[in-house]
Amino acid sequence: MFEVLSNEILAENLHKMVISAPRIARARKAGQFVIVRLAQGEERIPLTIGDADPAAGTITLFIQAIGGSTRKIVDTEAGGFIRDVAGPLGKETHITNWGRVACVGGGVGTAVLFPLVKALAEAGNEITTIIGGRSSRYIILADELTPLSKDFLVTTEDGSMGSKGFVTGPLAALLADPERGPQAVFAVGPVPMMKAVANLTRPQGIETVVSLNPIMIDGTGMCGGCRVQVGKETKFACVDGPEFDAHLVDFDGLTDRLTSYRDEEALRHAPHDCKLAKEVAK
Ligand code: NAD
Ligand code: FES
Repeated sequence: MFEVLSNEILAENLHKMVISAPRIARARKAGQFVIVRLAQGEERIPLTIGDADPAAGTITLFIQAIGGSTRKIVDTEAGGFIRDVAGPLGKETHITNWGRVACVGGGVGTAVLFPLVKALAEAGNEITTIIGGRSSRYIILADELTPLSKDFLVTTEDGSMGSKGFVTGPLAALLADPERGPQAVFAVGPVPMMKAVANLTRPQGIETVVSLNPIMIDGTGMCGGCRVQVGKETKFACVDGPEFDAHLVDFDGLTDRLTSYRDEEALRHAPHDCKLAKEVAK
């Protein structure tokens, strides 16, 4: 059992939860995730490890409550317990000193971007962080990201904060600037955003990394739920990723897989009821 030490609301439906998990806190690297199960029989939810404090033995998770299972998790107050927190899972981010790096976060994807920015800053990179949301209500982690970034830019679709538009606006301007253009780009957010970022950086051949969040069930490479086409190869995001070369990812195939279960997702406020998920939940 894993104790919830704090539970704070960051934005609409977005919670920051600090959980006691000493072994994971010591072992985890940027880019890795855990699979959380609130209680026996509940759905397994993959969540990026947003931050960790090895000395305190804690990990921080940013959780968007979008379905029945995630709502139950964020309803767990400080002092409550989560039955399973399995991890760290997935490959750690390849971190090096590229020089200038652009980090782009769309909406709740900014929470996944945060540990990458932190690790890139610790490696000495000069970071331009660009985060965006529908309005100022959806801009998260600005206070945490600002001190890690040389330049910190915000976009909102309604213009209520920062510049009006998508994150790709300031990124395109940055790419066109020979003095400030990045040597590498990291992007995390909705699939259309990551695809748009890949299309912007491809002509210049700028190394571009995206973090994918396909459907995951077991998180161990056994079920095939998280498969994604990367170049000519089929990869499993849970063991081969979640980060991949943006210029090789089949974003359209990923969109098809993500949308194929939308009706079931909308209907479900209880644990996974498909046969495979029931087997895995046992
Ligand atoms: P959203 O739809 O509100 O978009 C957030 C921002 O992303 C927008 O304001 C814009 O700046 C940018 N964006 C969106 N579409 C774009 C496009 N076509 N071109 C350029 N920029 C674009 O995002 P949200 O509702 O906060 O996030 C929900 C989505 O994020 C879900 O689809 C979820 O699966 C995905 N997500 C992905 C990850 C990941 O690891 N990749 C993590 C969490 C959530
Ligand atoms: Fe099952 Fe990746 S989640 S193979």
